[in-house]
Amino acid sequence: EPIKPPELDKCGTATNLNTGEKLDINCCPPTTQRIIDYRLPPVRYMRTRPSAHRVTPEYIFKYNMAIDRMKRLPADDPRNFMQQANIHCAYCNGAYDQPGQGTLDLQVHNSWLFFPFHRWYLYFYERILGKLIGDPTFALPFWNWDNPKGMTMPPMFVDPKSALYDEKRNQSNLPPAVIDLGMTGNTDTLQVVTNNLTIMYTEMIRGNQTAEDFMGNPYREGTEPNPGPGASERGSHTAAHVWVGDPRQPSSENLGNFYSAGRDPLFYCHHANVDRMWTLWQYFLPSNKVPDKKITDPDFLNAAFLFYDENKQLVRVTVKDCLDNLRMGFDYERIDLPWLDYRP
Ligand code: C2O
Repeated sequence: EPIKPPELDKCGTATNLNTGEKLDINCCPPTTQRIIDYRLPPVRYMRTRPSAHRVTPEYIFKYNMAIDRMKRLPADDPRNFMQQANIHCAYCNGAYDQPGQGTLDLQVHNSWLFFPFHRWYLYFYERILGKLIGDPTFALPFWNWDNPKGMTMPPMFVDPKSALYDEKRNQSNLPPAVIDLGMTGNTDTLQVVTNNLTIMYTEMIRGNQTAEDFMGNPYREGTEPNPGPGASERGSHTAAHVWVGDPRQPSSENLGNFYSAGRDPLFYCHHANVDRMWTLWQYFLPSNKVPDKKITDPDFLNAAFLFYDENKQLVRVTVKDCLDNLRMGFDYERIDLPWLDYRP
């Protein structure tokens, strides 16, 4: 059977997975009686997510205003910035159990739910931001860390005056530091860039013999969480979290810990690129080794999550409705993929 959406009224205490200790923050969302089965609205405007290193001053202004408004929403508004950050904590730090399965945790990482969950999470986050500035075409930027031109923290996030700023980041990795996707600790920039490209090739093409190798292992109702991540979740995705997380904080906050990751606006920009990798893998990459990229298992397709939408309505969404980004109304700016030439 597929993983069922959580029971919000049974949301409990979350655990800091880096230390194993109970967290003293409450990351449970507001509860409500009414849950609607979400139907994707017809796509009137395509939201084209831009590369974060290429955006215009106008875009930055708009994005900054949207995040600022999100931060100013009442604390108990499910669209509030902190409420949005807590979604990640609740789904990832053991605040939810699988409904009807005792104390078995609901966990959206380290399995085939990774890409679908985060896609829906960003989907509503983006729609909320667009609504707050009255722009139905608003699209989140993606951190293009797979391209040498995007391998530094995107500049708009490091302006201390901006709503996109977060002080809890590794100060040694501010620009011009180059992200180290292999967590090698190497300080030779050229080598790091080359190594990053080789990693991308391996994660996206070479290392995948089956759809699960890329997507993550099956995770079904009544089974233990964390059956195993896919190549991209395990690799570049985790590396970016670790690279940005602040070693001065007790537990690598913000981006370096599940419970706090969503508090850094850069989280959503990072995850937009993670999501872009899924799209590239599905639709643009040579597929000779994995002839069928579609997972047709109903336990995958019918797995479901709950989110508050841009109108504060609690909705139930399924994996099968998020497999096609164009149907969901968003796409990615086309950027070349230099790692295609970096076969190890
Ligand atoms: Cu839900 Cu990048 O983690």
